[in-house]
Amino acid sequence: MLITFEGIDGSGKSTQISLLKEELTKRGLRVEVFREPGGTDVSEMIRGMLLNPEIEIDPITELLLFSSARSQLVAEKVLPLLEEDAVVILDRFYDSTTAYQGYGRESVPIAQIQQINETATHGLEPDITFYLRLSPKVAAERTKSFEKDRMEQSGDTFFERVYQGFEKLSQTEARFEVIDAEKDINTIHSNILNAVTEKLGKNDTD
Ligand code: TMP
Repeated sequence: MLITFEGIDGSGKSTQISLLKEELTKRGLRVEVFREPGGTDVSEMIRGMLLNPEIEIDPITELLLFSSARSQLVAEKVLPLLEEDAVVILDRFYDSTTAYQGYGRESVPIAQIQQINETATHGLEPDITFYLRLSPKVAAERTKSFEKDRMEQSGDTFFERVYQGFEKLSQTEARFEVIDAEKDINTIHSNILNAVTEKLGKNDTD
């Protein structure tokens, strides 16, 4: 089963991912978590380039670098693990490319982003995607004391477009579960857990 987490920076994905991993592991499941970009040697090297605030990257190059990191992760880790019936949790996946490089950077038309995503994922789609919805204003407030990486230095209007991108995806993608990221940590965790439990039960009877 493939579970992905999406949302703008500061939406609390990492906290929720560790809570979910802990609970599913307790239930005896094999759970593997990867962050995007990252999760393999090649993908972590690409991450270093993408987030380095010292360098400038052309928007199309940026799109292709995120996609290259993804292709390596899927081929090297995700597909073999799914084959072994593990639960794979991804801290971001191709919806981030649609939201950030598509709606945020406006690098190429969305239809083209979708084609690149399909190539980079080797055709793999998540079973469920948790979209932790947080307004860019609240997110900016939460992250204001953090040191900013290259992506996080992109400015308020960029993050507003990214947010709108995720909102559009939440209306068109049936696998999206919208979670109010302003709720308290435990409420969010139990909402997520209920949805995963339901999905696991459904997958078993399929
Ligand atoms: P992280 O901070 O959640 O680890 O993600 C790294 C940054 O990269 C974050 O600002 C979101 C951005 N990103 C994209 O712009 N496109 C992508 O496809 C992915 C996976 C992340």
